[in-house]
Amino acid sequence: MLTASEIRQQFLDFFASKEHVIVPSAPIVVKNDPTLMFTNAGMNQFKDYFLGNATPPYGRVADTQKCLRVSGKHNDLEEVGVDTYHHTMFEMLGNWSFGNYFKNEAITWSWELLTNVYKLPKDRLYATVFEGDESEGLPASKIAHAKWLEFLPQAQIVMGNKKDNFWEMGETGPCGPCTEIHIDLRSNEEIATTPGHLLINQDHPQVIEIWNNVFIQYNRKKDGTLEDLPQKHVDTGMGFERLVRAVQNKQSNYDTDVFTGTIAAIEKITGITYDFGTSKPAVAFRVLADHIRAISFTIADGQLPSNTGAGYVIRRILRRAVRYYFSYLNYKQPLLHQLVPILAQQFATVFSELQAQQAFVQKVILEEEDAFLKTLDKGLKRLDVIMQQAQTTKLITGAAAFELNDTYGFPIDLTTLIATENNLQVDEAAYEAERKQQQNRGRADAAQDTQDWVEVHPTNTLTFVGYTNYTCNTLISKYRQVSTKGNTYYQVVLQQTPFYAESGGQVGDVGTLTIGQHTYQVTNTKKENDLILHYLSELPTSPEQPVIANINLELRNQTEAHHTATHLLQAALQQVLGKHVAQKGSLNNATGLRFDFAHFSKLTPTEIQQVEEIVNQKIRANIPVISKELPKNEALALGAMALFGEKYGDTVRVVIIDPNYSIELCGGTHVANTGELGILKITTETAIAAGVRRIEAVVANAAEAYISSQLQLLAQVKEQYKNPKELLPTLQKQQADNNSLKKQIELAEARQLVAIRNQLLTKDEIINGVTYIADIVEVTNPDALKKLCTDLKNNLTNYVVVLAANIGGKPYVAVGIAPTVVAAKGLDAAVIVKQHIAPLIQGGGGGNATLATAAGTQASNLQQVLIVVKALL
Ligand code: SER
Repeated sequence: MLTASEIRQQFLDFFASKEHVIVPSAPIVVKNDPTLMFTNAGMNQFKDYFLGNATPPYGRVADTQKCLRVSGKHNDLEEVGVDTYHHTMFEMLGNWSFGNYFKNEAITWSWELLTNVYKLPKDRLYATVFEGDESEGLPASKIAHAKWLEFLPQAQIVMGNKKDNFWEMGETGPCGPCTEIHIDLRSNEEIATTPGHLLINQDHPQVIEIWNNVFIQYNRKKDGTLEDLPQKHVDTGMGFERLVRAVQNKQSNYDTDVFTGTIAAIEKITGITYDFGTSKPAVAFRVLADHIRAISFTIADGQLPSNTGAGYVIRRILRRAVRYYFSYLNYKQPLLHQLVPILAQQFATVFSELQAQQAFVQKVILEEEDAFLKTLDKGLKRLDVIMQQAQTTKLITGAAAFELNDTYGFPIDLTTLIATENNLQVDEAAYEAERKQQQNRGRADAAQDTQDWVEVHPTNTLTFVGYTNYTCNTLISKYRQVSTKGNTYYQVVLQQTPFYAESGGQVGDVGTLTIGQHTYQVTNTKKENDLILHYLSELPTSPEQPVIANINLELRNQTEAHHTATHLLQAALQQVLGKHVAQKGSLNNATGLRFDFAHFSKLTPTEIQQVEEIVNQKIRANIPVISKELPKNEALALGAMALFGEKYGDTVRVVIIDPNYSIELCGGTHVANTGELGILKITTETAIAAGVRRIEAVVANAAEAYISSQLQLLAQVKEQYKNPKELLPTLQKQQADNNSLKKQIELAEARQLVAIRNQLLTKDEIINGVTYIADIVEVTNPDALKKLCTDLKNNLTNYVVVLAANIGGKPYVAVGIAPTVVAAKGLDAAVIVKQHIAPLIQGGGGGNATLATAAGTQASNLQQVLIVVKALL
């Protein structure tokens, strides 16, 4: 039997033999595309080639792509684990033609691969073909149909509607008709009763789609219309896990060697045997085996679990998994992190990023599991109560779902999942409203409305000239309007630009566009896929006219000084702390740098000093910073550091600061020589997440400003201490003096309290058989009043004590009543304080029947307080 690895390799080899270039998977976490959080299809990374925004380097490529379908248009989360063939993360095997071959070749090769290479039985394969759609003015796919008839009888070809046979990436973007290949994996007996073609696209667990061939011809615009693309493309996606199941002839994806290793590990950890069926524990096994892949690979690609955006999606998946092992495998300790080594090993040669960061990924997962396990049990008990109360309505209210989320960290899909298991529903709309309301309290709604592009001087060769030029003459390629709440701005794409778009941690350039007599401010520059977007608050009046683009050079220089410093810093951190230091986030702007990296403990002052020393030596050595373009393999052979979760092309930019010190793959801009940085100062070192430390530092002007402000502060402190010869001993002496004075005061106060108490004991009066002591005393803190009351208690029976004090102009009162008096006279200290004393001193108070205190604002009435209580007696 072929192994999963062999099956993957055969796919790649087959398309290599058809002159496809094999490319690596793009990261699973998407950057630079506001329409997507995660890669949800193999074609995502090629979107700009389809749209004509960028020129593809090759006409034919193939790969295996890490995909995640848990949010947005494609979301399979609910099915995962319950069935045997949906996944959160899956591998999509794909072959692509960018304006190269089309339907005939694509269909022929898919047939050849499935039947000649994988030897799948021809009579079990079905093809679906687009039947056309009148409302969209789309014809039926005649060419695809005719091609399939060369391989399959008509009975194995099924016509499908827009829902099944017209593929779209999202609400907008490239799309086109598709032909899917399905396989019938049922037994002969079952097939004899119901023919396979009746079960295509009917959610039958054994009659499943394995491959989708999309013929990208259109762009879906924002207004919903379709526009023809300049060229026709092929985008295919085959579900690797399903293919392996078909080739290995298994009943379920989870029975293939893609998952059996993980399942065996879960059996070992929990002591429970996987029973392959539909029992709750069996579902839990599948959920864990599936979810751990999504969790591990997204973290390896740089996405930490968090409370927003992509980070929250990971947290939700992780919590769903935790709840499954907690409830159905009866395992109450962190489990998921124990599975990471198996995956890392299994994928070592395909997606090596996991093995490279295994310890880090485990640490992050463990911390998340620990945190959620702490509240899970309580949350489940609370949910039980909520579900009891919802028995009549069968509906869990939005408020209850929100409470579970807010207090116990239950993601809404977890609450819904448990509710569904108990035949209840959740009012998700009301939950959403509650959540929005809370969010809006904190921040404005960030919903954004993006219009279609307006083409001005279209081109598919957009050039960044800003490594060497800070100004250039150019034309506007296209622009569009974007509105967020109360704010409208424009995104402008230029044919050529010196503006660096925010990426790799370096902020986008600001500057100006001059058109004729008008100058427009560029407030930011960002990337969207391969486009460089210049942000303008005003639309140029003559966008078709020539443009002079200028960046703000001063800000750029200061920013790139910090970027170069980040490279020096990372190399120094690796020298001092070890090779595990991998970048987890970075920000370089004119005022400083922020660098997040994987490391497990706080840096010691010595380590920080060592890092600074190394970097500052490199700065003083005034090393030239060399940037050059190299084929990726050559760059990696040089030992260049690459970032996990970053997408690199075949040709990469390499930044070298002394080949023996720092070589990084980096698209950013840098100073010419390290000497320009002047000096580096680390300003803070903190933890930002499990296993992630953050360093903030400054160089050049910013370092100068920082150092002078620190020295100024020091001068002020010295001044304050009358410029002692040595500041530190002076401060230490003062601290010691303070401590000893504090002790003396405490002692004196204790003595004073004894004296006051003795005096009070001489002032007792007997009223109606009760010993009454009341006085205004001199104490320095309100607690002393309480203490006096308690002390007096030991010397008295049958008493009422009222002690008042004016402390710093504020009135404080304590009332103590013997339990016998409480019982006999019905007096209650708390009631007296609240009803009689608080109004007099204009304040509030509380306590219990035998001891209560009050504080207020009106100290002139203290005498009155004593009289009032006496009157009560
Ligand atoms: N884009 C198509 C899909 O995701 C084929 O790759 O199904």
